[in-house]
Amino acid sequence: MHNLTNEQLLECLEWRYATKKFDATKKIDGKTWQTLEKVLVLTPSSFGLQPWKFIVIQNQAMKEKLREVSWGQAQVSDCSHHLVIAVKEKTDADFISHYVERVAQVRAVDLASLEGYKKVMIGALVENPKRSENFNWATEQGYIALGNFMTAAAVLGVDTCPLGGIIAEKYDELLGLKGTGWKTIVACAAGFRAADDKYAQAKKVRFSGEELIVHHDA
Ligand SMILES: Cc1cc2nc3c(=O)[nH]c(=O)nc-3n(C[C@H](O)[C@H](O)[C@H](O)COP(=O)(O)O)c2cc1C
Repeated sequence: MHNLTNEQLLECLEWRYATKKFDATKKIDGKTWQTLEKVLVLTPSSFGLQPWKFIVIQNQAMKEKLREVSWGQAQVSDCSHHLVIAVKEKTDADFISHYVERVAQVRAVDLASLEGYKKVMIGALVENPKRSENFNWATEQGYIALGNFMTAAAVLGVDTCPLGGIIAEKYDELLGLKGTGWKTIVACAAGFRAADDKYAQAKKVRFSGEELIVHHDA
């Protein structure tokens, strides 16, 4: 199933840029947003564990508060939907069990048949001393969701701005995440670019393919 040509895909990715100025009057329609939520849910993750929560903020007052703890970046208050990606502070045996139960339910298999798989995951993420602080692992997964979201949004003609310039702890306070085991890692404003956002015209700065891509089969 190929709905986009190679050229169309590249056109979408050239069109995408980190939007600095959103048109606050333009809102993403419900169907498009629902699709983008499905994109988040469909994001792949290590072991399939999905150690994330996606928090969607449309409420203007909350967006204004979050802007204050995002170095005043206007994208946060002017976007249509502000997405916050939070990940599990500690992926523990309980969470792994929760996932394994889901596998058994969705694939209609015996929980017992998944015991080996569960042990591998617990070994890698809970018992492995290097992994005892597995927040970094969860954070890596969260960034996959961010990339997936931005690309899909671009394909649907929705503008985004990924936002690492946020005070994650303050986000946790404002969003009631403190003490829940979930921590904010990054955010992404989504909506539509303002007609006068000069960054839309700026040339993309990327190293060349020759520099970045190594063909090791020569
Ligand atoms: C993880 C991450 C965090 C970022 N944080 C911010 C940010 O806080 N504010 C901002 O204006 N742009 C932010 N950016 C946007 C980048 O500066 C931008 O993607 C990069 O310069 C490439 O430009 P382009 O996305 O327009 O092609 C971030 C990008 C990423 C991937």
